[in-house]
Amino acid sequence: MNKFYILLLLGTTLLAAPYTKQDRIKDMQKMAEAMTTISTGFFYNNNDIVQSGALELSEVIRKVKPPLEERAEQDPLARWENEKVRFSNKIVRTIDGKAELIIERFADGDVQAAVQAYTKIMKQCMKCHHEVRAW
Ligand code: HEC
Repeated sequence: MNKFYILLLLGTTLLAAPYTKQDRIKDMQKMAEAMTTISTGFFYNNNDIVQSGALELSEVIRKVKPPLEERAEQDPLARWENEKVRFSNKIVRTIDGKAELIIERFADGDVQAAVQAYTKIMKQCMKCHHEVRAW
């Protein structure tokens, strides 16, 4: 390995800042905004607004995961920790998929299906909030 690669490796390790509770709260607020944007797009029947909200939601949800302190918890039942990660990943994937569906269906003029996907996203948000409180 030459110096260049060592520097590159070091750089990426340092730049990969841990995901904190603060990051998650900020992402949550961004997602709430994105959801509002999507619904505004529905009401004004404006594809650009729907699309920008859904893209924003998709971008943010992909970053959401249990913060470092939760993942590194010294829980004697380590499987619960893995449960958290798996649980989050599944919801994240579902929300991301539904955001894509909103974009596709709304652009096709299938407003019903777009709204249905929106409702399903809401359910996933609530599902995580409900479960997370018990963590
Ligand atoms: C993986 C679990 C998870 C998912 C999925 C999730 N949330 Fe959250 N959300 C949390 C947790 C945990 C909190 C509490 C704040 C914290 O500790 O990060 C929270 C808090 C919030 C808050 C309050 C933030 C604040 O200012 O205190 C809002 C708003 C929010 N979520 C919106 C959403 C929306 C909208 C969605 C769906 C698009 C969503 N959340 C999906 C876990 C989740």
